Amino acid sequence: MTIGIGLLGLGTVGAGVAQILATPRGRHPLVGELALRRVAVRDLQRARPIELPSDLLTTDAEAVVDDPAVEIVVEVMGGLEPARSLILRAIAVGKPVVTANKAVIARYGEEIAAAAAARGVYVLIEAAVGGGIPIIEPLKQSLGANRISRVSGIINGTTNYILSRMADEGAAYTEVLADAQRLGYAEADPAADVQGGDAADKIAILAALAYGGSITRSAIPTQGIDRLDARDVAYADQLGYGVKLLAVAEQVATTAEGVAELDVSVNPTLVPRDHPLAGVHGVNNAILVEGDPVGRVMFYGPGAGAGPTASAVVADILNIAGIRQVSALGTPEQPVPLDPLLAAGSWRPCRLVDSAQTRHRNYVRLRTSDQAGVIGRIGTCFGDAGVSLQSIVQFQAPTDSEGGEAEIVVITHEVQEACFRQAMAAIEALPVVASVAACLRTL
Ligand SMILES: NC(=O)c1ccc[n+]([C@@H]2O[C@H](COP(=O)([O-])OP(=O)(O)OC[C@H]3O[C@@H](n4cnc5c(N)ncnc54)[C@H](OP(=O)(O)O)[C@@H]3O)[C@@H](O)[C@H]2O)c1
Repeated sequence: MTIGIGLLGLGTVGAGVAQILATPRGRHPLVGELALRRVAVRDLQRARPIELPSDLLTTDAEAVVDDPAVEIVVEVMGGLEPARSLILRAIAVGKPVVTANKAVIARYGEEIAAAAAARGVYVLIEAAVGGGIPIIEPLKQSLGANRISRVSGIINGTTNYILSRMADEGAAYTEVLADAQRLGYAEADPAADVQGGDAADKIAILAALAYGGSITRSAIPTQGIDRLDARDVAYADQLGYGVKLLAVAEQVATTAEGVAELDVSVNPTLVPRDHPLAGVHGVNNAILVEGDPVGRVMFYGPGAGAGPTASAVVADILNIAGIRQVSALGTPEQPVPLDPLLAAGSWRPCRLVDSAQTRHRNYVRLRTSDQAGVIGRIGTCFGDAGVSLQSIVQFQAPTDSEGGEAEIVVITHEVQEACFRQAMAAIEALPVVASVAACLRTL
């Protein structure tokens, strides 16, 4: 039984998918049953890494969705619109959708899931987070019995590549970024990666799956690596830490009404060298899931690229194709619930907790006058606000600083954010403190 596939997009991921479909030998037997029927692109003249019959290509993406020969719609065009509308259009006509589009799912996941559940079609999103790493289906299914306490991860390969090189070479951020762009590891416009937006999209999706309810994407506190100073990477190294852009979702409380309160954020974070996430280098991604009773489970692998991402997209297509094979379900005439677990009513109310109430360890670098008693005054500000310190160290003043300046690095114990902010306000007001040069999280 051949199953017709419609591809929306033939860029990096789309071409990777077409490549797998064109070479079924040695793969799961169902790959041989998948036939590419129509492919939407923007530019029919563009050279492609894979040769396809020219009559397969069209610039009319809606025609791909509507084509009766297309049974599964694969959205790999990216962006919010028309991707969102095309996904909803496919659902409306009862066609299952596979998408790699984290931006759409992070913002419209609830709308899309509701439409899919109402119409009884699958929308599978394995490629949207972690590229080739299976994390969506494990979170939805294999770890379903657990109370998930925390999901934390390195889920942006570009920034991890930049941070790895900053640590290895002691190089400045702008220098490494320029080199990463030359090598194709960073986009010409790197904003979504380096400012943390891409990681925030992905942690929004992981949080929704881990805690069973969607959160407002735009409310996720997000700090990227674009203002990170090589000094902090070097100091972190001297203190026994690596710096990683961590995306974290953690349940901190449940209200009397049963609403899960989540601390979800993206921050450059000092990770102790013996922590499993500290060993993740280069463009690789890793996601650490902590739950009861499973303990810690880590997923590691290539987080992007044509092959790895297409691997996840085709796995989702096979999932749908497999269900079709063993039952007559999943067709426009005989729909199935979107997802057996979600259909059982597992969506729960979730919301982001007030950030002042969250608890973290912090790393702070201060530029101060180089005189006796400075460390004592800074320590008093922290103490007065109830912030206990793990370490406070004076480093050599940077060569570009004014004469008579010192640099002081503080690592706090885990403290409430409101207390930390109070201490920092008092420290900034000290005449001996020239500036707060950096403020990062510590795991
Ligand atoms: N690249 C990765 O490693 C990776 C990893 C995980 C997830 N993803 C996600 O996968 C999706 C695709 O990424 P990508 O890197 O493959 O993007 P890409 O290389 O820019 O490819 C996008 C494709 O979509 C086509 N397209 C865009 N807008 C269109 C429109 N309005 N009508 C018809 N065709 C349109 C483009 O046509 P033309 O070729 O004619 O311009 C192109 O073929 C994104 O959501 C991305 O976030 C990518």
